[in-house]
Amino acid sequence: MIQPEQESAGPAITPRTRARARHILDHYFVGPARDERVLEIWGYTGRYSYRPGETVGLQVSTTAETWSLEVGRDGADYVPVLRAENLPGRHQDTPLDCSVNGCGWDISHSFVIPDDWAAGAYLITLRADRADDAVEEHHVIFVRRAAHADPAPMVLVCATGTWLAYNCWGGSSAYEGITGPDCNAFSPVLSNQRPWTRGFCKLPQGAPRALTERPTDPGGMVRYPYMEWAYAYGYSKKYASAGWASYERHFARWAEAEGYNFEIVTQHDLELEPDLLAGHRCAVFVGHDEYWTAAMRERVERFTENGGRVARFAGNFLWQTRLENNAQTQVCYKYTAKEADPLMGSDQEHLLTGAWDAPPVNRPGAQTFGVNGLKGVYAGLGNCVGQGSGGFTVYRPDHWSLDGARLGYGDQLGATSRIFGYEVDGVDFTFDDGLPYPTGRDGTAGSVEIIALGMATNVEADFAHWGETLYIGTADAEFKALTMHGELTAETLDKSSRGNGAVIYWEKGNGEVFCAGTCEWVAGLTRRDSQVEIITRNVLDRFCR
Ligand SMILES: [Fe+2]
Repeated sequence: MIQPEQESAGPAITPRTRARARHILDHYFVGPARDERVLEIWGYTGRYSYRPGETVGLQVSTTAETWSLEVGRDGADYVPVLRAENLPGRHQDTPLDCSVNGCGWDISHSFVIPDDWAAGAYLITLRADRADDAVEEHHVIFVRRAAHADPAPMVLVCATGTWLAYNCWGGSSAYEGITGPDCNAFSPVLSNQRPWTRGFCKLPQGAPRALTERPTDPGGMVRYPYMEWAYAYGYSKKYASAGWASYERHFARWAEAEGYNFEIVTQHDLELEPDLLAGHRCAVFVGHDEYWTAAMRERVERFTENGGRVARFAGNFLWQTRLENNAQTQVCYKYTAKEADPLMGSDQEHLLTGAWDAPPVNRPGAQTFGVNGLKGVYAGLGNCVGQGSGGFTVYRPDHWSLDGARLGYGDQLGATSRIFGYEVDGVDFTFDDGLPYPTGRDGTAGSVEIIALGMATNVEADFAHWGETLYIGTADAEFKALTMHGELTAETLDKSSRGNGAVIYWEKGNGEVFCAGTCEWVAGLTRRDSQVEIITRNVLDRFCR
């Protein structure tokens, strides 16, 4: 259990505390300054999505006397739809355990979603001004759901489970935090009743992506440009790992500009509405979708079995979560699940919040999307395949998804636009006559066709460069060795070190799955890589027919 009295205030990115993080790899987080002298404004909405006619209640805390807001539809173009000025400011108390139990702020302002706002994602900009010309902004994203009747052919499901896991606002995420003996332990319980961290909803154009823009220089020091940028500009250390601004937004803007008719929903909607996918022809997942509940998976699998088409341009399918407390709390014990998850030893052990592929869950990730996170992981992050091409190697150029892309056997797909990384999903495969085939050892169906592959690793290469600090190291490989092989030895560590990322196609039940198992596919769309765009169109056009 989290003991709030054990928490330290921690090194938040505020004038008071930012100096405490001495290094870009140290834990620091975005959060309240807890100081009236610091100009700040933060806010959140009670839910991630709303239908027309519903009221959005904005919970805002600011040290400014007045604040303003603008709501705009964040589609192919940004279109403002609502402004409010001179709203009375109030500095609300924020509990130290807000990451776990929520901020509990009062509603400061609300508005009703009118029928004439088009379905899609909406960006709320909160602005606090002060007489000395200081201005502070904070951003909130929400989804305006489509009306029930006449569903669009395509539905984009935002990876809100992963957004929430990486949200460090207030101190704790599923990675690092402010509890435990060293005040740095991750939190297995996270509340969505708190602001998004800086950079999840809006980013400046050109903010570095997690995948480096070019292969690392073999003689140079390892670099993590996105973390360097975040540290320098006061953004979340995790801004490039998850969130609307880094991933789903790029796909939504591209798809809207291309003329696709689609709706946007969230994983939380998928949890709360069992039949959400029915009626759509194609469900799309993009970016980094690492955290799923059993119910979300079941709904995607049932959709596919019943003839639905799934297009996934995303990576890192790894952890089972549980949503509790009316879906306001996400639980994921991850590495500590066997010791700490209260379901261990109960008749609900299959819902343990550990890795899908590990006991006692034993529900291979590959059964949903044809690939899985434990067979994949890092590429293009620091010294993890730091000198890789940034693309996939093509093995089956005659597959329909590659029609018109002018790709031959052995060609690199997406290397110039850097689509391969920073986390990828792979498949256990073997080669025969120059072609990869799934072995099935990881639960991948034999009918899965491997179209393209790239290499990934769980162990960051250490070239003993003086002055270098590695980010990934061997921690992930050690977890995989313990979970999948039961013991940590040199041999099991070695067995757990290698991975890959795959583009696959799978006829599943009455439906179809196309999966490009990489977080960075969207970079190929924003950077207008014609081959990535052609493949994306081939998949969506066929799946939406
Ligand atoms: Fe991840």
